[in-house]
Amino acid sequence: MKMLQLRGTTKEENEILTRVGPGTPMGELLRRYWWPVGVSADLKEKPTFIRVLGEDLVLFRGKSGKAGLLGAYCPHRRANLCLGNVVGEDLRCRYHGFTFDVAGKLVYVPKEVPDPEAYMAGVQHLAYPVQELGGLIFAYLGPQPAPLLPRFQFLAAPGERHAKITGISNCNWLQCVENGMDPLHVAYTHGGTSLEGLDVEPDMFFEETPWGLVHKAYRPERDGRWNYREHHLLFPGISCGGTPGRYVEGSAGTPLMSARWSVPIDDTTTLILRCTLKPADNPGRFVRDPLPPVWKAVTVEPYKEYKHRNEDGSVTLGYTIPRFVATEDATLIDSLGPIVEREKEYLHPQGDFGMFVLRTMYLREVEKVRAGRDPIGTVRDPAQNELIEITAYERWITEAERQAHRAQARPITL
Ligand code: FES
Ligand SMILES: [Fe+2]
Repeated sequence: MKMLQLRGTTKEENEILTRVGPGTPMGELLRRYWWPVGVSADLKEKPTFIRVLGEDLVLFRGKSGKAGLLGAYCPHRRANLCLGNVVGEDLRCRYHGFTFDVAGKLVYVPKEVPDPEAYMAGVQHLAYPVQELGGLIFAYLGPQPAPLLPRFQFLAAPGERHAKITGISNCNWLQCVENGMDPLHVAYTHGGTSLEGLDVEPDMFFEETPWGLVHKAYRPERDGRWNYREHHLLFPGISCGGTPGRYVEGSAGTPLMSARWSVPIDDTTTLILRCTLKPADNPGRFVRDPLPPVWKAVTVEPYKEYKHRNEDGSVTLGYTIPRFVATEDATLIDSLGPIVEREKEYLHPQGDFGMFVLRTMYLREVEKVRAGRDPIGTVRDPAQNELIEITAYERWITEAERQAHRAQARPITL
């Protein structure tokens, strides 16, 4: 009998999948990976207050250029260290002057403190390791020994690279990640608007990779060729696709690629960062900003139109989404609510297959971590980490190429 629906996600599973704080099952899995938490070029002499996986933290850069990440609340009397000052390589609290190095060691207290050496030895402040790569600042919030920061080619290969925070979603991180594994939405959310040529439902399938999941989609084009797109999900939160070529004139050689991180700020807020690489052998020229900050949802709310009337007092009902792919995505994702009630969904076995597989994989990896094992995508061998290639490109292929490609596919089946 033909399957009409996929098994849905239960309320309990949804709870596991969406809670990111310390000690939660998913929070523990997510803490086994390096996360981008800022943009290198943005971090200058002043510290900044951030939140990652529900933890309040302060990011700063010492005078020599080395970045540090400390718990936000000073262990003396809990002032926020983002208001403090960088002194040499260390961060000094603005309230009473306690000063911490990048390892969270208290290295200075005011003279009034009796027996300062003994006092300082008794204080250890929260500190996490930080690394910079490809224009982004990465942090690791998990147990030691930390795995290596994967050198994906969009971060480490030579070429022209752009990295930026493009927005913040007012919803759970998984909604942002799932959008990247949802090939069906491309036709309806973006088709006929900002992504010309994609308003056709594709022939598609999913494969598991050493890094996560990939969906491969073929769309027929007029001249008998096929538009072929690979969209990867690199665990746990990198969506990696191949459309940024549309921002470049004269693209040739290795196609451009782009990665989007959905970084959980907390359970209901997500930081969206992006990195685009134009490989060194590609002579193309950017004709538009490759990373406009347009991950910005049009928020929906009851009777919104009556709160924001036209200038003459009349109202215009309905919503208009600006025609940027990222704005379209951000708007639809936010419209699902802060944490989508997955137990109420009706998943179908074609277009929703990616959601189903992805959730199954997250729950499987949660169990691995519970059992004390490394989850998928953990890199510990430096030889394996020189350069990690991901073929998340958009290409145009012939019918013969499509058939050959299809014959080698290992699609995930139920
Ligand atoms: S609260 Fe930071 S030094 Fe007192
Ligand atoms: Fe989209």
